[in-house]
Amino acid sequence: MRIIHVKDFIGEEVEIKGWLYNKRSKGKILFLIVRDGSGYIQVVGVKGESPDYIFDIYDELGLESSVIVKGIVRKEPRSIGGYELSLTGLEPVQIAVDYPIQKKEHGTAFLMEHRHLWIRSKKQRAILRIRNEVEKAIVDFFYENDFVRIDTPILTPTAAEGSTTLFSTEYFDMGKAYLAQTGQLYLEAAIFANGLVYNFGPTFRAEKSKTRRHLTEFWMVEAEEAYYDNDDNMKVQENFISYIIERVIKRCADELKILERDTNILQSISLPFPKITYDDAVELLQKDGFSTKWGEDFGGDEETAISKHFDKPVFIMDYPRKIKAFYMKEHSERPELVRCADLIAPEGYGEIIGGSQREDDYDKLLARMEEFGLAIENYRWYLDLRKYGSVVHSGFGLGIERTVAWICGIPHVREATAFPRMLYRIYP
Ligand code: 4AD
Ligand code: MG
Repeated sequence: MRIIHVKDFIGEEVEIKGWLYNKRSKGKILFLIVRDGSGYIQVVGVKGESPDYIFDIYDELGLESSVIVKGIVRKEPRSIGGYELSLTGLEPVQIAVDYPIQKKEHGTAFLMEHRHLWIRSKKQRAILRIRNEVEKAIVDFFYENDFVRIDTPILTPTAAEGSTTLFSTEYFDMGKAYLAQTGQLYLEAAIFANGLVYNFGPTFRAEKSKTRRHLTEFWMVEAEEAYYDNDDNMKVQENFISYIIERVIKRCADELKILERDTNILQSISLPFPKITYDDAVELLQKDGFSTKWGEDFGGDEETAISKHFDKPVFIMDYPRKIKAFYMKEHSERPELVRCADLIAPEGYGEIIGGSQREDDYDKLLARMEEFGLAIENYRWYLDLRKYGSVVHSGFGLGIERTVAWICGIPHVREATAFPRMLYRIYP
């Protein structure tokens, strides 16, 4: 029996296998809160009614002890979860002594060091359940929209987003291999077989960034679309984001409540999203008092400032080519720009999607790669795609942890994944 199902067994005796989340006693009554991963339930023991031995071992039962409890199900609206058990039996499985995380405030450093235990607590569990729902929504969205999932490799011979952020490893006698910082180039190959494709998996960036938005290992979902230009690409993204948000609001109401998330902005997100150009964004920032000059990239503070002007996610389009990746499509009227769009989340959560139309012209792409100093022989296969049936195409990548952090309203991406990997953290 799992706690979520007890509602169907009112008046019957059930057995719950779980852990002791909290306990207190008052005179002849003891209250245990037991959790089993599916929910929480209060178990009430009364002296004279419940077996005596339970009152004898009560003091020994430390928080997080594993226990199997038996009891009669009662409806109790005032109780956590709305149901209670009248205790009829308790079997301690393993008694926990001095559980390190107590019901008081602990510092972040301590909690991160105990992440393997911290994930049991209510808020952390809620965040990871919302992540679970986001991931399911992602897969469902693409399935319903006829995208084919292509699992792209993690060990790769080349860089795509810039060589400074690659983790490397020895690959037998073939020299260095790198952990993928994107699967995009492989997805581009796969559109010629399937038209619409996506991938979903871990992504690695050896970024020496110590911000609340950066991890060294994060999950990215990337889509790639044949015969779609940058505008078509943005339409997919809008639908995608609103699908995910709608799903979480519908299915994770309890979790959002546990997180005390004010869901007004999430509830009111409607299509289309506002779109501004990079030029507009620079102007907006300068009006806000930033010293940003045309041609410079935006950091977290700039993205936060821009997002404050909108109550929905906002696209920033058409960046200078100098600050973007080599594969982006040159702007037809202004060759100093590329046809791309970053999607900035509201409420100061920064860029959650990077996307663009891809350079589909063989000569232009080759020139860009030379300009970027790439070892062309490693990209022969990628250039082939511009020789055999090249078409206009576009795609984007969404960072899961940033998206989950925004939806949950938590300040740092490190809590949006079970075991975060960061500049100064690889334990536990
Ligand atoms: O903007 P990025 O670098 O785009 C790409 O990798 C493209 N190849 C995607 C594509 O067009 N197929 O990364 C996409 C998203 C960012 O918007 C951000 O949400 C997330 O990935 N991201 C990170 N999340 C956590 N930690 C990091 N270090 C991240 N770097 C990027
Ligand atoms: Mg980006």
